[in-house]
Amino acid sequence: MKIFITGASSGIGEELARVYANKENELILLARRENRLISLANELTPLAKSVAIIVADVTDFALLQEKIKGIGAVDMVILNAGISIGHSHDITPFEEFKKLYDVNLLSNHAILEVLLPHFMAQKSGKIVFISSLASLISMPTSKAYSSSKRALNAYAEGVRYKYKHHGIHVTTILPGFIKSELTDKNDFHMPWLLSTQKGALKIKNAIEKEKRLYAFPLQFYLIILVLNLFPQFLRDKIVGLVK
Ligand SMILES: NC(=O)c1ccc[n+]([C@@H]2O[C@H](COP(=O)([O-])OP(=O)(O)OC[C@H]3O[C@@H](n4cnc5c(N)ncnc54)[C@H](OP(=O)(O)O)[C@@H]3O)[C@@H](O)[C@H]2O)c1
Repeated sequence: MKIFITGASSGIGEELARVYANKENELILLARRENRLISLANELTPLAKSVAIIVADVTDFALLQEKIKGIGAVDMVILNAGISIGHSHDITPFEEFKKLYDVNLLSNHAILEVLLPHFMAQKSGKIVFISSLASLISMPTSKAYSSSKRALNAYAEGVRYKYKHHGIHVTTILPGFIKSELTDKNDFHMPWLLSTQKGALKIKNAIEKEKRLYAFPLQFYLIILVLNLFPQFLRDKIVGLVK
């Protein structure tokens, strides 16, 4: 299988590259930090069928699309590159907010604009969106991140409906907290924090089972689902308890 993973230089993307590194798979790994990609490629080349790297900033949309055109058709794309901008109580500067939307949402369409015609021509393909449990509930300090991931869910749902008759399968993954550079910045307690490897294995398993939506850990997902059933005034009170 030819697998293209974005955000493969650290965290979940790097670990996904490891769990897919076997002699069946050709890996294409994208991120900005070339040194990290080279060392990962050196590690995985003996294990995988092949490993190629693409050094690109996903917010440089035109250049990104040019580089992706060079890949040709793939069997699966894992749209994992993402950022958070911390949990400050200050008003988020507009440029930071925009950057977050460029990475977490718009870059995915820039990539799919190039890949979808290939998927449609081959009448098969898997598209995996790495969203977040944070897309289901917005905290006072996570408005930008939560809203970008909620928008991603809506985009992913539309892509699924639109292309399911073309043999294209969409999986949207909603992880809770997983150890990574992104969560290392958090200075609050992260319930049910998973190791990067465990998180990546759960994601791989969900992809193999062709889940449409996979949210984990289950306990965390259920709490959010129940909270979302409450009327808004009760949610306001409960979320108001979280500082
Ligand atoms: N960790 C969690 O608890 C958690 C929970 C829910 C969802 N997620 C989602 O999981 C995904 C991976 O996050 P992570 O936790 O593994 O964080 P991470 O370790 O910080 O990894 C983020 C990856 O995205 C890449 N990236 C960021 N900005 C980019 C840009 N402009 N152009 C190209 N690549 C860029 C980074 O590579 P470079 O810096 O080298 O470019 C890196 O490889 C994200 O979408 C995140 O929102 C994470």
